[in-house]
Amino acid sequence: MTLALDNIYELFEKWGSNVYDEKISQIDHALQTATLAEQSGSNDELVIAALLHDIGHLVHLQNENGKVNISVNDSHEAVGARVLANIFSPGVTAPIALHVEAKRYLCTIEPEYFYSLSLGSVHSLETQGGLMTPDEMQRFENHPSFLAAVALRRWDEGGKITNLKVAPFAYYSELMSKVAR
Ligand SMILES: [Fe+2]
Ligand SMILES: [Fe+2]
Repeated sequence: MTLALDNIYELFEKWGSNVYDEKISQIDHALQTATLAEQSGSNDELVIAALLHDIGHLVHLQNENGKVNISVNDSHEAVGARVLANIFSPGVTAPIALHVEAKRYLCTIEPEYFYSLSLGSVHSLETQGGLMTPDEMQRFENHPSFLAAVALRRWDEGGKITNLKVAPFAYYSELMSKVAR
């Protein structure tokens, strides 16, 4: 399955209020993560990657009609990158595909990052492969989108609070169309 731009809006409209395994809704998490990317002066593609990084969760909800078992790894990073591949270039999809690897990486090199994880993130870490081996770290560091993925992952973890002022989802529609191929 691949998506068109309109399907992105539909998915957020239908499932954006779902809290998945976090305390805040999927749409708030998406908007907060994108806001942090923008505030860091990140490029347009990475802002859209931040906005859409968890769209794989929404696809999962859609496929299961909302009845998901969150203890099962839904490989949402791979699903997300795949469904967006027709719309966006790897500048958007590669950091999305790598954002779980980036979490494993950061937890491995920075104990304080691990302690900053939300409860949902801690629970999913084991099913996502746990900490990285030195070989896995080396391979990840050599990926051309390594830095973008790590940056995205830091905003991801930062984007789980309740009092960050964010723009509405529609604020990003122009940027999404501009970044789309
Ligand atoms: Fe995620
Ligand atoms: Fe996330």
